[in-house]
Amino acid sequence: MSTFHFESVPSLLREFGACQRLGSILRERFDKQRLSLVTDAFLFQSGLLQPALDSLAAAGWKVCVISEVVADPPEEVVLAATEKSRQFAAEVIVGLGGGSSMDVAKLIAVLSSGEQALSTMYGINNIKTARLPLVQIPTTAGTGSEVTPISIVTTGATTKAGVVSPQLYADLTILDTELTMGLPPRITAATGIDAMVHAIEAYTSRVKKNPYSDMLAREALRLLSGNLLRACRDGSNRDAREAMLLGATLAGQAFANAPVAAVHALAYPIGGLFHIAHGLSNALVLPHVLRFNLPVTSALYAELADIVVPASGRSVEAGAQALLEWATTLATQTGIESRLRDVGITQADLPQLASEAMLQTRLLGNNPRPLTQEDALAIYQAAY
Ligand SMILES: NC(=O)c1ccc[n+]([C@@H]2O[C@H](COP(=O)([O-])OP(=O)(O)OC[C@H]3O[C@@H](n4cnc5c(N)ncnc54)[C@H](O)[C@@H]3O)[C@@H](O)[C@H]2O)c1
Ligand SMILES: [Fe+2]
Repeated sequence: MSTFHFESVPSLLREFGACQRLGSILRERFDKQRLSLVTDAFLFQSGLLQPALDSLAAAGWKVCVISEVVADPPEEVVLAATEKSRQFAAEVIVGLGGGSSMDVAKLIAVLSSGEQALSTMYGINNIKTARLPLVQIPTTAGTGSEVTPISIVTTGATTKAGVVSPQLYADLTILDTELTMGLPPRITAATGIDAMVHAIEAYTSRVKKNPYSDMLAREALRLLSGNLLRACRDGSNRDAREAMLLGATLAGQAFANAPVAAVHALAYPIGGLFHIAHGLSNALVLPHVLRFNLPVTSALYAELADIVVPASGRSVEAGAQALLEWATTLATQTGIESRLRDVGITQADLPQLASEAMLQTRLLGNNPRPLTQEDALAIYQAAY
């Protein structure tokens, strides 16, 4: 067996309703007084966070709510949020929201000392400074950011860049499914498909795939594929929501170690140029990237097909094909858009998408099959 290295967060609590006693959970772990709670305006105004805020106050925490996070957070938002947290002299950072809120929380934790500029952190292992204690609490079952060492920032007008460094692993991850019970069907679908893409891309990653990431990816895909439609059709189904949130976290642990590839590389320009949500961007290109990779991944796809669409006595080719067919129907089954033209993209936009996708060298290097700009264009054309 080849050498491998596996990392994850040191502590994870899954408890339905945990946020109702967040103050005491954090009191047990941190001998501190002041915390920044990082979220977005919608979640703050919706009242979803109120039980957590009440519990923090009851346990004596002084709280600065930073609710300025926006989807696909730009650099300015990260820097302004850091400044607000520094002014408040926060000692602990809590990310409570979707991937956008958790990604901003990570960066506030490492930028707070003021010792290193964000511009020098992009790429892999470029953080040289210690961070504040960090707690992550997801409200979407999607990105897995609660267990990844990754933060994605929108840099410039349209491009996204990742900061990837072990300092970004949280000290504590809390999975409180109660927070996800009200996720609307469209967000449930898009973020759930994002999580499935994490599992699939981790399982077929060219580099660093290992027995732990495989085990996590397989179990993630079992939970996610078995519950996505139930969670979309009946959001109050607690079992389905529990399975989705755990599945998204397991997929996050998988791809934190066996990184994602061309689906994400081709999805990022869609999000950047057209402000399409991350999960939907992934869903739009997923079947077409799988088809492109098929010549080199059919054995692995067949193994995944045995999880999502099991059948006995099937050849490897038939299994791989079954996975492709399953992936192709996901968007329409969940009611989200399935073609680039459905989200306002025109054929004339495709060359720019293809050239921007080629900038995602970190992700493309993980793809099981090398991909040129012409390949990217052909995939976008197929997705159009
Ligand atoms: N760090 C990582 O490892 C990683 C991995 C993949 C993606 N990302 C990044 O994460 C971001 C996407 O995160 P996301 O898909 O979770 O979306 P998001 O955080 O941008 O949130 C999307 C929308 O869902 C709403 N929402 C969140 N929770 C809700 C709830 N419980 N009920 C009702 N509405 C709710 C938010 O208010 C927001 O309007 C992107 O910036 C993407 O690049 C990060
Ligand atoms: Fe993703």
